[in-house]
Amino acid sequence: MKNEAPKPATILAQADHYIDATTGAVTPPLIAASTFARDADYAPRLPGVTYSRDGNPTYRQAEQVLAKLEGAADAMLVASGIAAGSTLLRSLSAGDHLVIPRVMYHGLREWVHSFSNRWDLAFSEFDPTAPNALEAAIRPGETKLVWIETPCNPTWDVTDIAAAAALAHKAGAKLAVDSTVATPLLTRPIELGADYVMHSATKYLNGHSDVVAGALAAAAEDELWAKARESRSLDGVILGPFEAWLVLRGMRTMHLRVQQSCASAMHIASHFSAHPKIERVLYPGLADHPGHEIAKRQMRGGYGGMMSIQVAGGRDAALRVAKAVQLFIPATSLGGVESLLEHRATVEGPDSPVPDNLLRISVGIEDVGDLVADLEQALTQA
Ligand SMILES: Cc1ncc(COP(=O)(O)O)c(C=O)c1O
Repeated sequence: MKNEAPKPATILAQADHYIDATTGAVTPPLIAASTFARDADYAPRLPGVTYSRDGNPTYRQAEQVLAKLEGAADAMLVASGIAAGSTLLRSLSAGDHLVIPRVMYHGLREWVHSFSNRWDLAFSEFDPTAPNALEAAIRPGETKLVWIETPCNPTWDVTDIAAAAALAHKAGAKLAVDSTVATPLLTRPIELGADYVMHSATKYLNGHSDVVAGALAAAAEDELWAKARESRSLDGVILGPFEAWLVLRGMRTMHLRVQQSCASAMHIASHFSAHPKIERVLYPGLADHPGHEIAKRQMRGGYGGMMSIQVAGGRDAALRVAKAVQLFIPATSLGGVESLLEHRATVEGPDSPVPDNLLRISVGIEDVGDLVADLEQALTQA
């Protein structure tokens, strides 16, 4: 009797049941070669593997794992999360119209604001929390790509992927989802109708804060995907084999890390939700979060490891708390095993739409009691 298709935890733990054909090694090797010899018939020995800028077996294995997790036709690793986003955006054509959320990962928002002119792309923004705002921003026949991020940095607003896909498709556009925070374990955008999924692999996929990497997955190998593949090769935004190897190694424990981060984030969010020094806790797992009902439908197994707190007393009080933490590490980024806390407005700069009393928290896998105690003591400085 044949086994059922393996579940995500099994695919991850075994790196898609990897056994090296030559040596029997249970971990994929790091193939650092830039170039690959052809066989006696002058054909590539592995399909598509002739030169590492076009393809390398080490990143192919990681891409295969990701494609399986996302239920995608294909996946590719690139040099960073922002390169994953910009690779897709650069694959649009001059004159195309793009729709983005008003609040999103600030680096990519900056890319659209600064570079869309150079690439002759028109764009409109929508408020992901306002009903009908996405529909109003889409221009039927003109919009080629709708970009959403869910849960969305750093308010963790949740966008209904199935509804966004239906609106995009009705207008003849494709839907891309930055699913970095949800991870392929909590949300599968392609199942919900998305065309492309993007991850900053720097975050949960790798999980150990020791690599910068990005990933894209596609529901079908369509025209835009073919252009994105070409762009990775011709723009040269490839990931080094060592970084790909680190991403693949990190992914093997992602299910356990994400499970723990979700459980701890839920605990911390609930614990501090009525704290006198906190104006508001933003976490999609809390019933009073505006995105909770959609998150309940769309996210499975947890609401993610990311949350924010708005400190009572404004910017100065928030900065005092950020400086007073002793276990939370005062650094940017997210999705690693260590918990981080940052004053988001400082990081994003003067144009940031983020409230200046907001502290963004990435919950890691430490003892949750230690984390709660650290935040409690830091809040006495608010
Ligand atoms: C949601 C999200 N998308 C994209 C990125 C960009 O990723 P990278 O820093 O790997 O380029 C980040 C980085 O913080 C992010 O949080």
